[in-house]
Amino acid sequence: MRKLKAAVVGVGNIGTIHTEIYSSLENVDLTAVCDIDQEKADKAASKFNCKAFYSVESLLAEMPMEIASVCTKGEENGGDHYQPTVLLLEAGIHVLGEKPISNNIEHARLMTKLAEEKQVRYGINLNHRFTPSAIKAKEWVDANRIGTIHMIDMTMWIDNPVETSPWFHLRALHPHSFNILHYFGGPIQKIQCFANKGEGRKIWSNAQMNLQFENGIIGHLRGSYDGDFPSGSFGLESLEIVGSKGRIVIENACESLRYYPRRSRSMEQYDCYGGMNHFQETFRSRIEAWVQDNINQVHPAEVNGSGKEGLAAQEVIEGAIRSFETDTVVKL
Ligand SMILES: NC(=O)c1ccc[n+]([C@@H]2O[C@H](COP(=O)([O-])OP(=O)(O)OC[C@H]3O[C@@H](n4cnc5c(N)ncnc54)[C@H](O)[C@@H]3O)[C@@H](O)[C@H]2O)c1
Repeated sequence: MRKLKAAVVGVGNIGTIHTEIYSSLENVDLTAVCDIDQEKADKAASKFNCKAFYSVESLLAEMPMEIASVCTKGEENGGDHYQPTVLLLEAGIHVLGEKPISNNIEHARLMTKLAEEKQVRYGINLNHRFTPSAIKAKEWVDANRIGTIHMIDMTMWIDNPVETSPWFHLRALHPHSFNILHYFGGPIQKIQCFANKGEGRKIWSNAQMNLQFENGIIGHLRGSYDGDFPSGSFGLESLEIVGSKGRIVIENACESLRYYPRRSRSMEQYDCYGGMNHFQETFRSRIEAWVQDNINQVHPAEVNGSGKEGLAAQEVIEGAIRSFETDTVVKL
């Protein structure tokens, strides 16, 4: 069996998850970890029996991998992705970056352009939609089970007390929401955003956004960093897709999938469809899809959850910020 050689850059909280998943996959050989924090790199290397590097330059000098996850963080959880990602893409390494693709839209545009020029695969960890429930819902939509989509509504909220910048909540959390909205509704054409600062907060921690999609679908996103965090949960996420023949509801990414036909009460309901019980499991399903895209050597334009998808989500987020700041509906 062909084994892909993989490395993980940035082995903090989330990089450790990528490392654990790569090292558990039969078709992957985790060869290296890289962190500017030498202690973290050494610890991960000894745990996963691979080589430690302390800079991307030294990693590239030995080139022990074909694919790499970039799990750095930085400003608004995405400011540090640019430098290591550019080095890796330039060297022809296929990169799976953490979300947001970048908090800096110019950087996001440059990275996707570079990946295209170099013809390398560039994916983003938009893991919230890598669930059996979302895949089944998409099948239902494609099979015309709900007819023409009229409206899509989404809620995504978690409890995140970090106060580092005014638009941290939109830029760091909603790459996930907009990727899911794009997946079901296609490109968004217009956005109108209202926001407020939760009690005692300095940042725009709550936002309500009206959306119009290019194909005429209308929708709404409700987001918050002042959300619930009940034990055993990651927060709250819900999606409702309303069509001319029925509607689909997904709760908490993978926990509940329901189909309601418009003219009958015989709804269909699945708990933890496909055996996925918890959001945390989406890291594995997303990384497995990334590995499979590389094993299959899909064309870079065909990567599922691509850099371009990450960029598209970030463009909508910047539109939402402009809408709020100018008190207008923004055309994207
Ligand atoms: N997909 C999801 O559901 C999800 C959930 C939470 C966080 N995240 C994302 O994961 C990313 C990482 O978050 P985290 O909490 O693991 O951060 P972290 O701070 O725990 O880890 C980041 C690591 O990157 C290292 N690093 C920074 N610059 C580097 C460089 N140039 N080369 C090598 N190593 C470098 C740091 O030393 C650190 O160890 C963020 O982008 C965050 O938004 C994604």
